[in-house]
Amino acid sequence: MKRDSDKLVSKIESLSAVEILDSRGRPTLLASCRLADGSAATASVPSGASTGAAEALELRDGDPARYAGLGCLRAVANIKGEINRALAGRQFETQGALDQALLDLDGTPNKARLGANAILGVSLAFCRAQAAQRALPLYAHLAQLANTTPQLPRPMINLFSGGAHGGGQVAIQDVQLVVPAAGSIHRTLEVVSDVFRAAAALAAERYGARRLTADEGGLAPPFGSSDAMLSAAVEAIERAGYQPGSDVALTLDVAASQFYSDAGYRLDGALLTRADMIDRLEHWRTVYPIVSIEDGLHEADWSGWQQLAQRVRGRAMILGDDLLCTQTDRIQRAINLKAADSLLLKVNQIGTLTEALEALRLARGAGWQVVVSARSGETEDDWLADLAVGWSGDYIKVGSITQSERLAKYNRLLVLEAQDSL
Ligand code: PGA
Ligand code: ZN
Repeated sequence: MKRDSDKLVSKIESLSAVEILDSRGRPTLLASCRLADGSAATASVPSGASTGAAEALELRDGDPARYAGLGCLRAVANIKGEINRALAGRQFETQGALDQALLDLDGTPNKARLGANAILGVSLAFCRAQAAQRALPLYAHLAQLANTTPQLPRPMINLFSGGAHGGGQVAIQDVQLVVPAAGSIHRTLEVVSDVFRAAAALAAERYGARRLTADEGGLAPPFGSSDAMLSAAVEAIERAGYQPGSDVALTLDVAASQFYSDAGYRLDGALLTRADMIDRLEHWRTVYPIVSIEDGLHEADWSGWQQLAQRVRGRAMILGDDLLCTQTDRIQRAINLKAADSLLLKVNQIGTLTEALEALRLARGAGWQVVVSARSGETEDDWLADLAVGWSGDYIKVGSITQSERLAKYNRLLVLEAQDSL
């Protein structure tokens, strides 16, 4: 049943933005939205490093005199100028109406004119302002918007990193932990903390005392090979006193586009064909307790993904990140081809909440699992936790437990869990 508050109209009084820095020390933006009734909110926008080719365009200044060209002053100016001029004084009944106005104003297929960072900032800040106007926690407002039942997701937590997040010492981007039987966020974090400490000690013994961490706070010692990385993860689970697989399992973000070229996949000093790569992934899955494989092949190899899914289906999630870029046309293609069975949902890959919701609905309609994901460049904002809860994500992927831009999300989940009122 629709509540009366659903029909509350929100008139925008003003939109603004500030250039801020993300967890890599690179510029991003914080947008703010004030409604005519005085409700106001801010939201900041994350940024990826191993980005998919089909992602909406993140507008950067390209001015080499500032932040090596990565400044976001143009995107900020677009919010304070053109977007504010076009939307201030207008009334929007729904998130969908606001997002449509942003799309119409931009007028490009990939948000290249105003910037997906500018557009997402406004989309999120408006959403929060509407939640404030309705006196709802953000997750509850998001659940109303999506017509979903709030649910705490299971965290997929980064343990080891390589690839674009870890300096490329090993090709695989992320080895993550899931705690299948934990049943709560706080128990998951306790277990992962034990494994993380064991892994840090192991890395120190094996690779020297200096603790090296990657963009998402995972450990990044100079592993000599993918197998060294994967077997160290299993060893750390055991050393912490847990049973690999039943107590703590692994999920991989292979991010294969990052080490693919026309010649093949450059992995562990060899050049692998697509068939070799599929064999290797299936081999790892049988040797290590791997329950999900993200971006196991490069983002344009649809028939390779079909073959991989055929090999692995039902035994591990086939999770599409760069393949899908949170875009409905790509998700539909993957559904038709049976090329994946799980969606990695990153709202900044598409640029508005409404389009991300369409992606979620399409995936859900096909019976897929959904992993709500942060980016490798994050801020201390915690809206992602509310999004994962409100849209009832099966999993949330935020990175490791060592950096505050990640912990902001875990801590928000802990608070929501403790409230016990979802
Ligand atoms: P990104 O990494 O934010 O650098 O794209 C996260 C991921 O690949 O899942
Ligand atoms: Zn990924």
